Amino acid sequence: MAQKRPACTLKPECVQQLLVCSQEAKKSAYCPYSHFPVGAALLTQEGRIFKGCNIENACYPLGICAERTAIQKAVSEGYKDFRAIAIASDMQDDFISPCGACRQVMREVRHPFALPSSSAMVVRLPQPCGTFGTNWPVYMTKPDGTYIVMTVQELLPSSFGPEDLQKTQ
Ligand code: THU
Repeated sequence: MAQKRPACTLKPECVQQLLVCSQEAKKSAYCPYSHFPVGAALLTQEGRIFKGCNIENACYPLGICAERTAIQKAVSEGYKDFRAIAIASDMQDDFISPCGACRQVMREVRHPFALPSSSAMVVRLPQPCGTFGTNWPVYMTKPDGTYIVMTVQELLPSSFGPEDLQKTQ
């Protein structure tokens, strides 16, 4: 099923559940301007799934992507550690890929697992690991349920993050 790399942190049934949730989330998209519905499903460390959809506005810049809706919902409900996020769109022939702003926001969140970049092994760290994370998986899907998975680090290399703010002090 996976096109690029096997699921590296989640059991296949968990991946499937997350994918289905992202497709369900897409149904709530409010996108009268782009007509491009997107859904996201964010899995917390505790096993909860927060869904998000894109929500556009007549004042175009105020629109928000599905991924950030899901992250903001989860964080505002007290969840700050995440295992994975799945994204769904209606594109039949392409895997939906998160925009730059969403990649940066994903980069901010904490993740409970460290993923060795060269291995499919999962390393459990003390919970929570307390670091901000670039190394957690993003499942980018097609409507037929196929997906590619990349880490935030792969999607946003050489990024700026919270730890950089400490470096001048
Ligand atoms: N969009 C998302 O919600 N997530 C993505 O990964 C890419 C784009 C939304 C933003 C806008 O509402 C519409 O898709 C067209 O760009």
